[in-house]
Order: sequence, then structure tokens, then C-alpha cells
Amino acid sequence: MDEKVQAIVKKFENGKISLIGVMQDISEELGYLPEELLREISVEMEVPLSQLYSLATFYNSFRLEPLGEHHVCVCMGTACHVKGSPRIAETLERELGITAGQTSSDQKFTLETVNCLGACALAPLVTIDGEYYGKSDQNKVKKLIEKYK
Ligand code: FES
Repeated sequence: MDEKVQAIVKKFENGKISLIGVMQDISEELGYLPEELLREISVEMEVPLSQLYSLATFYNSFRLEPLGEHHVCVCMGTACHVKGSPRIAETLERELGITAGQTSSDQKFTLETVNCLGACALAPLVTIDGEYYGKSDQNKVKKLIEKYK
């Protein structure tokens, strides 16, 4: 366990942050919650590993794997959904060879779906590395992905 993680665990032991706070801090620090580290902090903090896993899987903001080099998000909120985002998500899954929620084996792409990115006028909306690509369609995302490959 590195020093930064130890400092986070200390804050928990001193009652300064909650269990969820520990996980948020680690997640911010590392970008995800590595399995090995969850095992270590479970022992260190005397908290069952199953409890850490239920928190990690309950909250969408936590991830158990690192993000790929490019983070692709398809909005599945109502406005985007009625304008075809499920077909866009399927196209991306096919193009990238992964399903939503996964990272490609070469660690190049992580594909996720989200519920409303707050820019419904741009529906259907896809983001790549935080960049907005509004009024998308299946052909546009195919070409877009080629640029990132
Ligand atoms: S529903 Fe897609 S941005 Fe709002």
C-alpha cells in the first residue's frame, strides 16, 4: 500500500472520513479501485471485503478497472434514446469489440452508457474523452472511432 493510500486509511481510522470517503479518495487518487488494494484495505481497516465490493458495485462512480486510453460515453437518456442512441451504442460495441461497461483488451477504449449528459438539444449525444459529439448517428460514430484508433 503506498503512502497516499495509507494516509487515506489513517483518516478513516481517526474517524475523519467514512468508508465511502475512503473509496472516493482512493478512486480519485488512482482513477479506479484495484482488487488487490481492496483486499489490503479490507484487512487494514477490518472491514469485510464483501462490504467494500457491494459499495464499489452499487455506486456508478466507482470502477474496478482502469479506464482505457479513450473514454467513450453514449447517452441513453430519454431525449437521446428516442433519437437512436441504442443503435449507436450497438454500433460502438461492434466496432470496439466490447460491451458497454468494458475496456478493450488493448486498453485503448472504455465504452460506457450514461443517463443524460445534460445537453439534450444535441441528442443523440456521444462523448469521447469529454469532447461532445452531438446529433450523432451510426455512420458518424464509426468514422469518429477510426480517428481515435
Ligand atoms: S438525454 Fe442525452 S443529453 Fe440529455
